[in-house]
Amino acid sequence: MITIACKGIKKFFISGENRTEALKGIDLEVNDGQLTLLVGPSGSGKTTLLSIIHSILTPDAGDLYILGNNMNQKNEQEKAEFRKNYIGVIFQALYLIPTLTILENVTLPLLIRKEKQERADEKAISILKQLNISEKANFPPPQLSRGQQQRAAIARALINDPKIILCDEPTSALDQKAGFEFMSILRELAHSDHRTVLVVTHDHRIFPFADRIVNINDGVIEESYA
Ligand SMILES: Nc1ncnc2c1ncn2[C@@H]1O[C@H](COP(=O)(O)OP(=O)(O)O)[C@@H](O)[C@H]1O
Ligand SMILES: [Mg+2]
Repeated sequence: MITIACKGIKKFFISGENRTEALKGIDLEVNDGQLTLLVGPSGSGKTTLLSIIHSILTPDAGDLYILGNNMNQKNEQEKAEFRKNYIGVIFQALYLIPTLTILENVTLPLLIRKEKQERADEKAISILKQLNISEKANFPPPQLSRGQQQRAAIARALINDPKIILCDEPTSALDQKAGFEFMSILRELAHSDHRTVLVVTHDHRIFPFADRIVNINDGVIEESYA
């Protein structure tokens, strides 16, 4: 099923006298149940496209449909609500809060939404167990390895049970073993849980994990192969 559809998406940035056409008319459909890689050189527009799909950046032209919703028709508050309910993100910088424990980091999105502490903890522990990291629940992030921190970031992204998971260069700071472990988890989330997983990367080591690779170059989707 197509869960993300970009139709003629354009985005430009103006800084000083420079006008950069970051996206020049993107047509892209992404399916659930699959791990899709969006691959391209630095500056090709990957993060811009992912930010638009995340609906934190508004395109200058074109339409974006997520789970059948025309995102152009939503105001900022509705988009924020939509993100909370349906989209989980993992960035290269993990944004774990160093002064909180792993458990507190993972439950934070639920507590912000006024869920009961006990229920939030229960849910978080079950996800941390699934990701094989529950023994670190009461440690702060700096005491974990980078790979473990990455798994904590996945747990936090999963706490709202998002149908769509977006990752920007998630493996670039990981060694090969941790990177492969991370990609295996993501593939499992796509295949077993039937989520939509879209990963932006230029890390060649993880290409074999993809169900589908889409190339982007200079703001244009070049080719896409299964
Ligand atoms: N906020 C911004 N202001 C000005 N230019 C930007 C901004 N964000 C991205 N760009 C430019 O848009 C192009 C695409 O950037 P980006 O999407 O970050 O590429 P990638 O993630 O593939 O490296 C680049 O030329 C970049 O310099
Ligand atoms: Mg980028």
